[in-house]
Amino acid sequence: MRAWYNVCVLLVAGLSECRLVLDTGAYLKLPDGANKYTWNAGTATKASYDPVENLLYVIGHTADVVHVVNMTDPGNPVRLFTKRFSPLNQGLPNDVQVCRSKVPGGGGQLAVSFESAGLNQKGHVHFYALMESNNFQNYLTDALDVVTTESYDPRSVGWTENCTGLVVASEGLPHELNKAFEDPPADIEVLLPNFGTTVDRREIPISESKAAAAKVRQVFEKCTSGTGANQTSTLKQALEPTAVHVDTNDVAYILFQDNNAIASLNLTNPFAELEFFSLGTKDWSRFEFDGAYEDSGINLQSRQIVSFYQPRDMVSFEVDGKVWLATADTGSPRRVSLTSCRFDDSVAASSWRKAFSDGMTSDEVTKLKGEMAAGSQIGRIPVSLLKQDTDGWDPVYQGYDFVATFGGRGFSILDPVGMKRVYDSGDDFERYFTTPQATDEQKAMFNSYVSKVTEPQTAQFDRRSAYLGPQPSAIAAGAFNSSTQMLVIANGVTGGLYTYTVTSGPTVTFESYIRRGNAGLTWDAAFKQDSDAVGEPSITDLLYIEDQGQKTVVAVSQSAGALSFYSVRER
Ligand SMILES: *[C@@H]1O[C@H](CO)[C@@H](O)[C@H](O)[C@H]1NC(C)=O
Ligand SMILES: *[C@@H]1O[C@H](CO)[C@@H](O)[C@H](O)[C@H]1NC(C)=O
Ligand SMILES: *[C@@H]1O[C@H](CO)[C@@H](O)[C@H](O)[C@H]1NC(C)=O
Ligand SMILES: *[C@@H]1O[C@H](CO)[C@@H](O)[C@H](O)[C@H]1NC(C)=O
Ligand SMILES: *[C@@H]1O[C@H](CO)[C@@H](O)[C@H](O)[C@H]1NC(C)=O
Repeated sequence: MRAWYNVCVLLVAGLSECRLVLDTGAYLKLPDGANKYTWNAGTATKASYDPVENLLYVIGHTADVVHVVNMTDPGNPVRLFTKRFSPLNQGLPNDVQVCRSKVPGGGGQLAVSFESAGLNQKGHVHFYALMESNNFQNYLTDALDVVTTESYDPRSVGWTENCTGLVVASEGLPHELNKAFEDPPADIEVLLPNFGTTVDRREIPISESKAAAAKVRQVFEKCTSGTGANQTSTLKQALEPTAVHVDTNDVAYILFQDNNAIASLNLTNPFAELEFFSLGTKDWSRFEFDGAYEDSGINLQSRQIVSFYQPRDMVSFEVDGKVWLATADTGSPRRVSLTSCRFDDSVAASSWRKAFSDGMTSDEVTKLKGEMAAGSQIGRIPVSLLKQDTDGWDPVYQGYDFVATFGGRGFSILDPVGMKRVYDSGDDFERYFTTPQATDEQKAMFNSYVSKVTEPQTAQFDRRSAYLGPQPSAIAAGAFNSSTQMLVIANGVTGGLYTYTVTSGPTVTFESYIRRGNAGLTWDAAFKQDSDAVGEPSITDLLYIEDQGQKTVVAVSQSAGALSFYSVRER
């Protein structure tokens, strides 16, 4: 079903307004601290760019490393060095953000957040000077400041425009301390480093009643089994902030992925609180997706179910002199698998045997039940078990008004005033593979994933259809020219980038799709080649860099431990 949005390449190929394409550029594999290149060693997860020195800072979570890459010539990026952080002192890096003040003489700095392995100690944020030619020796040996965070897992950080404040979001994932189960509360704090003296800190209050009033999903209440099963978690403990972004007006946005929610915080107002918004659900009776595991084909169908958007990444951009947000609508069923606690908010649709309420007609229920029972239809998609109205539960009827699955399988544009969704890419991300523009090699990778590295890249063709599909994991935005914004969104499993443009309105146009890599090879054999044959499986970050008129997109592949560079071209 085609809706109100514009997909010009697909429908009216050849029209001149649809012409932005990405061309593959350099490809740079990154080693671990012992200079070894190993598949899925976690040598690259997040990156941030310093436009003054043209340096890209890349951290690798599991390998506990930072790399600095010289991008003076974006066609030939050069890794300057790789350094291992000390695991004893610092834990594993989660996020990295460069800040260059736009205020003249305002300077700049680098912030890296760390969590301890096993989440058994409080997290840290380290502030470093930026690398310049005069501090190249021993760079990163000494931090300007080290701050212990309120919580255990500072997942994401974001700078204010003037580089004086760093917003830190700690997820507060359930963990074990001395084998005892604990669910730490979500934590948002603003660190105000003033080097040489102590770091000031502003703890942002989180109002449970505001979150509840906004219909934020309380995704976790208690363990279903384990020694933790008698403790109950509050909504504040169940809130899991996963990503921070600060826009050019110093409004911070915080994604609560599992909770299907976003919050905003006006940083220029010292008394502002988090304002919560539910991200709502997507109605798949209006769109089509491939939810089938066992049909070995690209087979899009509409279904009478909804899904939680649950974005993992977001960006802001300006069109018509106004800020907009765009989210990569990934999806995230919630699981806890600790010795002390087991929990899952979902079950395969074929095992969901719940009562319905009056939300659907009996014919609709019969049809949906049939589809949910069959693996060749949607029997293997995860669906929610939560007894909450956000998830369809109707306490009066003791049954469900609707069945909810996970992930928007696309991207959205939100008006931050009220968080109204003004655009949804619908089913573009999967529908592309049914169009003449899709090459055979692209089609062979449709909803595939990495199961065994010894298998060909195409071996799991269509096997992710039942689990979040294209799973968009990262999004980047940048101005193409004064009237056109570009958005690039990553397939979070196989790799591959979707490019869109946004003009006044906002009017959104699909431009192109590209996936690099040699689908005919095994992941293993491809990884061992010097070329880009392995592609960019599991993209965890995406950057749009414009420097001296050159526009470069950089994808960070966690599994390949690689940076994948593209240039932007008008067809
Ligand atoms: C980065 O590369 C450029 C040449 O492309 C060189 O002039 C510059 O010195 C390099 N920067 C560093 C920090 O090595
Ligand atoms: C949970 O509480 C019940 C009743 O108080 C008790 O019998 C049981 O041992 C407790 N379980 C755990 C794992 O603490
Ligand atoms: C920097 O920005 C923050 C947040 O907008 C503001 O409160 C602060 O006064 C600014 N500081 C300076 C030195 O401009
Ligand atoms: C943020 O708060 C400041 C001070 O209260 C106000 O002037 C500004 O308009 C607010 N910004 C937004 C985007 O609401
Ligand atoms: C901006 O780029 C778009 C896409 O190529 C083009 O259609 C438009 O004319 C350009 N606008 C300006 C002001 O250059």
